[in-house]
Amino acid sequence: MVGTKQTQLLQVNDLEKDAENIRLAAEMLRAGKLVVIPTETVYGLGANALDCDAVEEIFVAKGRPQDNPLIVHISKVSDVKKYATDIPEIFYELAARFWPGPLTMILKKSGCIPSVTSGGLDTVAIRMPAHPVARAIISKAGIPLAAPSANLSGSPSTTTAEHCIRDLSGRVDAIVDSGCCEYGIESTVISIIGRIPRLLRPGAVTLEQLQQTVGEIEVDPAVLHQMKEGVKAASPGMKYKHYAPKAKVVLVDADSKTYAEFVNKQEGDGVYAMCFVEDVPRLKKPYVLFGSRDDDFAQAKELFYALRDLDDKGAELVFARCPSKKGVGLAVYNRLLRAAAFEVMKL
Ligand code: TXA
Ligand code: MG
Repeated sequence: MVGTKQTQLLQVNDLEKDAENIRLAAEMLRAGKLVVIPTETVYGLGANALDCDAVEEIFVAKGRPQDNPLIVHISKVSDVKKYATDIPEIFYELAARFWPGPLTMILKKSGCIPSVTSGGLDTVAIRMPAHPVARAIISKAGIPLAAPSANLSGSPSTTTAEHCIRDLSGRVDAIVDSGCCEYGIESTVISIIGRIPRLLRPGAVTLEQLQQTVGEIEVDPAVLHQMKEGVKAASPGMKYKHYAPKAKVVLVDADSKTYAEFVNKQEGDGVYAMCFVEDVPRLKKPYVLFGSRDDDFAQAKELFYALRDLDDKGAELVFARCPSKKGVGLAVYNRLLRAAAFEVMKL
């Protein structure tokens, strides 16, 4: 039955001093258990990517649709050859610049990746995380880890162990706590199967950086637009409801003054602003912050924390300030669009 596991909390602040907890986490993963691990993007709900039963348990623990494939996490570049075939030259260019780090590449999968891990697709998503604890656990376990974000399906991704505990306590065997995630937003996902690489999900590795490295890149329409019913998704995760707090969220595309005037006019107790620090002096409503206007990294880092904070505060209707779509701002905008079910007001 889901929700009846004894979840162990394993603190890892220091790779050497906490080596025993890393060993324990690795051992549990090798034994087919579910272990939440920290990464530099968000926390991940890990299991042995090659063990069908363990991977099936991930889907149950999260309440995740079966056709939404998982990212396979590795600790050394050379492992890619085991899990992917027909690896194009561009893979090596991207890996040399961005790995280890917040970039996931979609490749043709090899025979050893089970269908349950790849959501029935003939491709596989692979990432080599930079977080030292993630890498230590993966290399100690000696297996590739399937790891979606460690949240209940549909909720904002988790960037602290406390949020993982709230969503997944009783549903996983252990949670490794290493504090806050550095980027706070999930990895950039790029498909490099076709002639022209295609951006499926923006992240901390920006579109501009990818273009500098490999030239032309197509941006999948689902990055910025709601998919029509019946259209096949390049990345299945894009078609599902995502990052949604309990409150209704509306994205407001306006300058700071117009935004604050608009929010101040709204009536009702549950109205909240989700805004940048520069907006605060003009606001007369309660608010949560997500960084500052010109700091896209800070916006990303605080985004999911802010969405969860709104729930804790009992917000019912949230007006979120629209970020710029440049740099990591594109990723912030992409997540907020989904949190707002694509409702954008241009003022
Ligand atoms: O930063 C991250 O990527 C985090 C950490 C834990 O590594 N993981 C993460 O996993 O965000 P998840 O499952 O929440 O998101 C993975 C996304 C989904 O939208 C999924 O549909 C897509 O990647 N994806 C996975 N395999 C794919 C494939 N073969 N083809 C297309 N999209 C794929
Ligand atoms: Mg996710």
